[in-house]
Amino acid sequence: MKILSVVGARPNFMKLASIDKAIKKHNSQENKKTIEHVIVHTGQHYDERMSVCFFDELEIPRPNTNLEVGSSSHAAQTAQIMELFEPVLLNEKPDVLLVVGDVNSTIATTLVASKIEYNDSDKRRPLIVHVEAGLRSYDKDMPEEVNRILTDNLSDILFTTEETALENLTKEGFSPDRVQFVGNTMIDTLISNKDKALRLNALSNILENDASLKGSGSDIAAKLQAGAPYGVVTLHRPSNVDDADSLGALVECLNKISSKLTLIFPLHPRTRNKLENFNLYDSLSENQNIILTKPAGYLEFLSLLISSALVLTDSGGIQEETTYLKVPCVTLRENTERPVTVKMGTNYLVGTDTSNILETALSIIDGKGKEGEIPPLWDGNAGARIVDILMNIVQEGR
Ligand code: UD1
Repeated sequence: MKILSVVGARPNFMKLASIDKAIKKHNSQENKKTIEHVIVHTGQHYDERMSVCFFDELEIPRPNTNLEVGSSSHAAQTAQIMELFEPVLLNEKPDVLLVVGDVNSTIATTLVASKIEYNDSDKRRPLIVHVEAGLRSYDKDMPEEVNRILTDNLSDILFTTEETALENLTKEGFSPDRVQFVGNTMIDTLISNKDKALRLNALSNILENDASLKGSGSDIAAKLQAGAPYGVVTLHRPSNVDDADSLGALVECLNKISSKLTLIFPLHPRTRNKLENFNLYDSLSENQNIILTKPAGYLEFLSLLISSALVLTDSGGIQEETTYLKVPCVTLRENTERPVTVKMGTNYLVGTDTSNILETALSIIDGKGKEGEIPPLWDGNAGARIVDILMNIVQEGR
C-alpha cells in the first residue's frame, strides 16, 4: 500500500509524526504487507522555526517533495498548491491520500485528489482520508471552518478525535460507516515526547538567551529560574491580530495579567508583523513581566507548557495539549471546534471581551482553575489505529 501524506503548516507536523511512526512500526512487524509512505510538504510554512525544526525534532523523514508555495492570499495560496500538487499526485499514484487538520494545504490537495484521473491504473483516484475530521466551530468566518467542511465532504474516510465530531457529521448527513473515532494524533506525539521535553528545561534556555532580561529584568529571570510560576501566551488568529483595536485590547489585557503572573509569549510571524505595524510591539517588549520570544520549537514549547500555571491562546491544538497536560487554558475566541476540552478538560472559552479574560485568568492565578479529565482515546495510539484501519480497508479492496 502506498500512502501519500500532505503537510503544509506548523500544526500539521505533530499529526504527521505520529502517523509516520505508526507506519514504521507496522513495517517492522513480520508477515505484514509493507506500507510505502510518501510525504509532500506544500511549503505553506517555510521558516526554520515554523517548519524545518519540527522535522528534525520529531524525526519525520524529509519530504519527498516540497511545493514551496510560501505565503500569499487564501485564493492564490490554495490555487498554487492545487496546480503544483496535481502532477505530483499523477506521478506517485498513491492508494491513499492522507490529509490532516484544516489548513489551506489540507483542502487544496483534497480537492485535487477528488477529481484526479489516474489513466494507466486500475483505480481512478486515491482513497481520501481526513485525520481530525468532523470538528466544527460553526463560524464560517474562520478560514479553517470552510477548509474543514469542504475536506470532510470530499473524504472517503473520516478519522475523528472526539465524540462530538460524529454528532456534527451525522447532522450534516454523513453515513457513520465513513467515520472512525480513533483518538488524537497530536496527543500521540505529545505523549511520546513528554519526557524529552521535560529534560530540555526550555525556560532556562530562553532566560539565558534573552538579552532583554539583562539589568532590571534579571530579577524576573532569577525568580523564574528559582521556580516562580509563569504563564504562556500564543496568538495568531486573524480575527484577533489583524485588527488594530482588537489586538490593542488584548495587549492591554496581557499587560494587566502580567502584573500578577509573568508571561512568556512566543510570537508567530503574523502577530509580530501586526504588533509592529500597529505600534503595539513596544508596549509588550518594554514590560519586564512579559518575555517575548521567537516561535518556539516543538520540544521547547512542550517544555514551557508542561510547567506553566496558565495558558492564554487562540490556537486549536493548544487547547487539546493543555487539556491532556491538565494545565488551565484560557481560549481567547468566541467559539471552539474542540468542545471536549471545555466539557472535560481544563479549557475556558472566554471570547475576546477583556473583562471576561481578566476575570478568568485572575481566578486561575488564584488557584481556582478546574482539574479536568483526559478525553476518551487520547492514549497515544491514534496513529496505530489509523494505520490498522487503512490496511484493512485497502486489503479488502475498498
Ligand atoms: C495557518 C493556518 C492556521 C494555523 C496556522 C498555524 C490556514 C488558513 N491557516 O495560519 O489554521 O492555525 O497556520 O500557524 O491555513 N509567515 C512567515 N513564515 C512562515 C509562515 C508564515 O513569516 O513560515 C508569515 C507570513 O507573513 C504569512 C503569515 O505569517 O503571510 C501568515 O501565514 P499563513 O500560512 O498564511 O497563515 P497562518 O496565520 O500561519
